[in-house]
Amino acid sequence: MSRKKLLITGGAGFIGGNFVQYIVDKYSDYDVYNLDLLTYAGDLTKHKQIEDRDNYHFIRADIADRDAIMSIFEQERFDYVVHFAAESHVDRSITDPAIFVLTNVMGTQVLLDASRTIGVAKFVHVSTDEVYGELDFDPTVFFTEETPLQPNSPYSASKASSDLLVRAYYETFGLPMNITRCSNNYGPYHFPEKLIPLTISKVLNEQKVPVYGDGANIRDWLHVWDHCAAIDLVLHEGVSGEVYNVGGHNERTNLEVVKTIIHTLGKSEELIEFVADRLGHDKRYAIDPTKLEKLGWKPTYTFETGIAQTIQWYTENAEWWEQILSGEYRK
Ligand code: NAD
Ligand code: DAU
Repeated sequence: MSRKKLLITGGAGFIGGNFVQYIVDKYSDYDVYNLDLLTYAGDLTKHKQIEDRDNYHFIRADIADRDAIMSIFEQERFDYVVHFAAESHVDRSITDPAIFVLTNVMGTQVLLDASRTIGVAKFVHVSTDEVYGELDFDPTVFFTEETPLQPNSPYSASKASSDLLVRAYYETFGLPMNITRCSNNYGPYHFPEKLIPLTISKVLNEQKVPVYGDGANIRDWLHVWDHCAAIDLVLHEGVSGEVYNVGGHNERTNLEVVKTIIHTLGKSEELIEFVADRLGHDKRYAIDPTKLEKLGWKPTYTFETGIAQTIQWYTENAEWWEQILSGEYRK
């Protein structure tokens, strides 16, 4: 069988980084190209174990730089694209929305143009359940692939815009594609600005943990390795043009998540500090993953096994998140 060239954008980030390692380990007949700008969220130290492998290559580039992306595509002629690169943090999109439009909308459009011009066998766009907006607290109602897009934050609006562009390139130009919409991820190498790694690092340092509002907002948590397996399946078995929701029915209030971490680490709930709520804070996300399950996916982690593994990982790999918190990783 001939070797395949797989472009992974955003492979220095959290999910893309885990996906790079998953693919490099699983497919020795794939040449993996990790294309990343190395923004504040990008960090290559996580790839020390694989950086010398013959089937792993790193390219530093901005997905919104049309000339650079076109010339990389012309030179490398990728078979597949899995697109993670994005500005990903909701709070940052509230203070500085412009970069979210540039990277998430324009950057995706540049990649789509390069993919359709040069030609790829599949473009997988990694999106989010946040494009559906929010649910109320009725536990019988879930996001399906047919739920209308009603994004509430500048982040989710930029992701929804990019989803629509991907759809348009399929309808207009016949670009083979899938869109995945996953719930909240957690696991190794999660940047410590997000709730779970932020809480673990604060609790390990005996610092106050900021909980927005009353902590009753609900997120649906999925271990990042289960997300990687889902994307692998969609890349290889997904029906072109289809959207697949990814989630494992692990709904928890933010307060439950924070308390679980505090109790697991044997610390006091007095570390919890209720702070001002996020503007436009979505109440609840919850995924119906039936369509993906029919394709053959099922998660391997429950929230209990996944959060225990993650807390252990952060405890044993403190040097990774400490270099992020100190800013040392930028050097
Ligand atoms: P992240 O912020 O950890 O990583 C993003 C990566 O993209 C970083 O390595 C960064 O350097 C890179 N990047 C940013 N701008 C770039 C640009 N202009 N050009 C090239 N590279 C650039 O993000 P994440 O949490 O790993 O999320 C990855 C993708 O998955 C995003 O598209 C996000 O919307 C989606 N997603 C995330 C979650 C979640 O819970 N984290 C859930 C569902 C979907
Ligand atoms: O649902 C998928 C999305 O999940 C992804 O598309 C995003 O890229 C990812 O960042 C994540 O978005 P959230 O806003 O849900 O994640 P975050 O970790 O920022 O916040 C989770 C919940 O915790 C949310 O309700 C806000 C709350 N929170 C967050 C932080 C950082 C707090 O209460 N305190 C905090 O300090």
